[in-house]
Amino acid sequence: MRPSGPLHGTAHAGGAKNSALKLMAACLLAEGRHVLAGVPRIVDVEIMADVLAAVGADVTRHPDGPGGWPGALVVDTPATLVPEAPYELVEKMRASVVVLGPLLARCGRASVSLPGGDDFGIRPIDIHLHGLSMLGASFQTVHGNIEGRVPGGTEGRLVGQRIVFEYPSHTATDNVLMAAALAKGTTVIENAAREPEVSDLADFLTHMGARIRGAGTSHIEVDGVDELHPAATAHHVIPDRVVAATLLSAVGLAGGEIVIEDGRPDHMDMVLRKMDEIGVEVSQTPEGMRATSSGRLHSVDVATLPYPGVATDYKPFLVTMLSVADGVGIVTENLFSGRFRYVDELRRMGADIRTEGHHAVVRGVRRLSGAPVRAPDLRAGAALVLAGMTAEGETVVSDAEHIDRGYEDLPSTLTSLGADVTRA
Ligand code: EPU
Repeated sequence: MRPSGPLHGTAHAGGAKNSALKLMAACLLAEGRHVLAGVPRIVDVEIMADVLAAVGADVTRHPDGPGGWPGALVVDTPATLVPEAPYELVEKMRASVVVLGPLLARCGRASVSLPGGDDFGIRPIDIHLHGLSMLGASFQTVHGNIEGRVPGGTEGRLVGQRIVFEYPSHTATDNVLMAAALAKGTTVIENAAREPEVSDLADFLTHMGARIRGAGTSHIEVDGVDELHPAATAHHVIPDRVVAATLLSAVGLAGGEIVIEDGRPDHMDMVLRKMDEIGVEVSQTPEGMRATSSGRLHSVDVATLPYPGVATDYKPFLVTMLSVADGVGIVTENLFSGRFRYVDELRRMGADIRTEGHHAVVRGVRRLSGAPVRAPDLRAGAALVLAGMTAEGETVVSDAEHIDRGYEDLPSTLTSLGADVTRA
C-alpha cells in the first residue's frame, strides 16, 4: 500500500467475530435449525463451522437467506452430537474452546483439544475449567485433550452454583453461561465479563428459552432449564466494535470523514474518548457513527483493561496513531503479556517506541517510512496496514492471512474509502 488520504465515504463494521463464534457454539445447545444473520465471512467463522461439523452439526450459508436474511448462516444441530473437537481445528483457533461448555451440558462429556490461537503470551483456560468444575464437571488432560465429564454421564446434568471468577475472562464467561443454561438450578457468575458480545450471547440464549439475568454486568444469574430450542426468528449478530475502531483509526491517520453505518458508539465509550483526545472526532448518527479527523494527532496515555475499559484489541491501532502523533504517549498492556510484538515492525517503519515489560513509550515522529513488515497476529496485522497507509513510500505486509481471520476484506474496505491498499 501507499500513502492514502484523506478518506471519505461510508463503510460497515459487519457482524462481530467475537460474538458470532460464540453464537455458533450456542447452537449446539438445542436440536433443530438455528439461523444467524450478519455472521461475517471471515476465516475464524469457517474454522468454527468446521468445529461444529466435526461434532455433528451441519453449517451452511443460505444465499437468499431464510426469513429474509441474505447470507444467513444456518446451523442444523442433530439430536445426538459427537462431543469431540479435534486438535487440527482447535489448534487453529483458541475460541474453539467455547464448544466445551455446550458439549458438556448437552452430552455429559466432552473432549476438546487444548487451544492455540493468536501468538501473544500464555493464554490458559484455567478460569473456564474452574467455572465448569464448580458446576460439577471433572477434567483431565489426556494426550493434549481436555476431557470433561459430568457425574452421571450422558444422563447426568451440571448443577447450578455460585462461581466467582478470578478475572472477568470473556470466553470463560461465555462458556459457563452456555453450560449453566442447561444446568439444574441457579448459577451465579460473579466478576463476569461485561463485553457487549456476552450480552449478545445472552440475548440469543434467552430466545432459545434460557433464563438469564444481568448479562452485560459483572453479576449474571442463570436459572437452568431442562431443554432449549432454536430461536423462533433469525438472530442478528451485533456489529464488530474492533473493526469499527480499525476504520476510525484509519481516518485518524489519513484524515477525512467517514460514516460507519452500523457503528455502535454505545459499545465503544472508552475507546471513543481516547480517539477524541488523539484527534478523531466521533458523533452518533441515526444509522451509526460519523468520524472526522484532520490527520493531525495528539499523544495520550492508554492502559488496556477488561470491558468497559479500553480493550487490548484496540491497542495496536492506538499505538500506530501515537507513533505519528505530537508528543509522547505511554501505553500499558494489562491483559496479554506478549502483545507488543508488532512494535518491532513499526520500528522498522521509523516509529520511535521503547518497550519495557507491560509498557510502551511512544514518541511521535513526523512520518513513518514504508517498509516490508510481517503481521504477527490479526489486530497487529490490521494496524500495520494502517501504518502503511500513512507511511511515505510502499509498505508490504506479509503473513497478511492473519488479517483475514477477523476482517471480511480489509483492503477493499479501505480502498472504498479512498485508500491505496491492494492485496498481492
Ligand atoms: N486468562 C486466564 N485464564 C483463563 C482465561 C483467560 O488466565 O482461563 C487470561 C488470559 O491469558 C489473558 C486474560 O485472562 O491474559 C484475558 O483473557 P480473556 O479470557 O478475557 O480473553 P479471551 O476470552 O481469550 C476474548 C477475545 C479477544 C479479546 C479478549 C479481551 C474472543 C474469541 N476473543 O479473548 O479477542 O482480546 O476477549 O476482550 O472472544 C481478537 O479478536 O483478536 C481477540 C484476541
